[in-house]
Amino acid sequence: MKGLVLSGGEGTRLRPITHTSAKQLIPVANKPVLFYGLEAIREAGITEVGIIVGNTRKEIQQEAGDGSRWGLKITYIEQEAPLGLAHAVLTAEEFIGDESFVMYLGDNILKDGIKDLVDEFRSERPNSQIQLVSVPNPSQFGVAELLDGKVVRLEEKPKHPKSDLALTGVYMFDANIFEAARAIKPSWRNELEITDAIQWLIDHGYEVVPHQVTGWWKDTGKLEDMLEANRLILDTIEERVEGEVDEASTIQFRVIIEKGARIQDSVIRGPAIIGAKTILRNAYVGPFTSIDASCRIENVEIQHSIVCENTVISDHPSQRTFRIEDSLIGTNVEISRTDRKPKAHRLLLGDSSKVELP
Ligand code: G1P
Repeated sequence: MKGLVLSGGEGTRLRPITHTSAKQLIPVANKPVLFYGLEAIREAGITEVGIIVGNTRKEIQQEAGDGSRWGLKITYIEQEAPLGLAHAVLTAEEFIGDESFVMYLGDNILKDGIKDLVDEFRSERPNSQIQLVSVPNPSQFGVAELLDGKVVRLEEKPKHPKSDLALTGVYMFDANIFEAARAIKPSWRNELEITDAIQWLIDHGYEVVPHQVTGWWKDTGKLEDMLEANRLILDTIEERVEGEVDEASTIQFRVIIEKGARIQDSVIRGPAIIGAKTILRNAYVGPFTSIDASCRIENVEIQHSIVCENTVISDHPSQRTFRIEDSLIGTNVEISRTDRKPKAHRLLLGDSSKVELP
């Protein structure tokens, strides 16, 4: 069995971060989202993985490499345009050959991985297995309608969903999916929808079995979901302090402090993670915060946020300090206090940036 990870896509709902970086590389608890998927695939005993890439091929390849660090053999497959998940499947036809495969959307995280799901598929050998989760907002996903435990209908982002069962971004197929993907027509959003291809399998008498996922599942396509994934992962971390914490600092609850990090005169209330070589000075880091490597956070209070590498957030000690929450702050960002006149906000923001000031 092979793995196919989809890591193209434009990430429009995460702009401006995705103007400069792939959404699959945004860190959740200081680890790129994509790596959760690759690790889950490896744990399921699959070693040959194709990654579908688009515009962001270079960065994805730079981060994931040849896969050897996970014991994977990764092949990069270029999709010329993001024309849908079923189109991505067709792009990978040569790589997959006539094997069965698990398709994994590179921005999805499943708490319990996919080992049990893949094991079930391997032993039951249906033509396809879909993984479902009950959600409060089914119209934002592909939705499955079941009858007596069988899948009867799938609909992509229906206005009036027939159930609350969303299709998660993990699908298993045998080679019949290629015929299905070739048979369907593009949807209203001009994409070849995998949902339609699976419906085609059902309509043509192939066996599509549902598997209800019990642990949490997150599609990290939007800021709130990204923050929630960060929260869910941080909730599972074990305390580990390898950086330096001075005597004036307090670490409460579960916190990871990586090597080379320096915590001075600060309070960290976990769950939180502080990346390698990051410096905190007179800072408060509250629950559910991930600060990646080589950042400097000074005279600032921050919680429930993700800060990417090499970013500086620095205030003066005497003033009303910056308080930051519910935020995703990219790489190499600088936020600072200045005494320059006129006393105004001076901003250099990328397209689609969002700033809310109190
Ligand atoms: C895609 C699928 C959808 C599925 C979702 C899971 O949606 O089309 O059926 O429920 O992934 O993450 P998209 O992210 O393309 O909007």
